[in-house]
Amino acid sequence: MNFFIDTANLQKIKEAKDLGILDGVTTNPSLMAKEGITGTENVHNHYKEICKIVDGPVSAEVISTDFEGMVKEGEALAKLADNIVIKIPMIKDGIKALSHFRNQGIPTNCTLIFSAGQAILAAKAGATMVSPFIGRIDDTSWDGMKLIEDIAEIYAIQGFETQILAASIRNAKHIVDAAKSGADIVTCPLHSILGLLNHPLTDIGLEKFLADHRKANELANG
Ligand code: G3P
Repeated sequence: MNFFIDTANLQKIKEAKDLGILDGVTTNPSLMAKEGITGTENVHNHYKEICKIVDGPVSAEVISTDFEGMVKEGEALAKLADNIVIKIPMIKDGIKALSHFRNQGIPTNCTLIFSAGQAILAAKAGATMVSPFIGRIDDTSWDGMKLIEDIAEIYAIQGFETQILAASIRNAKHIVDAAKSGADIVTCPLHSILGLLNHPLTDIGLEKFLADHRKANELANG
């Protein structure tokens, strides 16, 4: 399973990259706004900065909601770097745009997926990846992870090559469950990735190893 970081924050992207486990980046208009990046030129420059840090896929989302607008925006984004993936919302014109970019050989990520039907349509239109939003489904007291299982089962039966990118990940357990449920990729905030590190027995075990080592050395050195 590939690990993407879900942020537009350059420091966090660098920190994840330094761990040696980073395969790609996803962003969205809310994450860009959170970093205070506004205006087409600044947004494009920011994507170029992200693409300098990461070799793997970097999802850049269009703002337009009509076919012509999405194509124009997507083509401009695709020119910024070789590893840009055009992120397209799951709407009617988005489906047309996914087919268009498939025919152009430009990779896409269909976002805002909340049902298996939407995932089938996006795959049929040639999306490279689909982004089911796990946390936001859980927020409504439905089971986000069940959606990942359903999509994984359907794609396997039908032979769809679209990758399942589990998004709206909120914690380390979501990452583990997504791995079990057949996600090809998880995109996570840095704190969820770092949450995978945590276990109290690791801390207790390390403390004991180091204490035993200190004691043995004190005895040896008198
Ligand atoms: O990748 C989509 C993700 O950014 C949404 O996450 O936490 O806003 O639901 P969240």
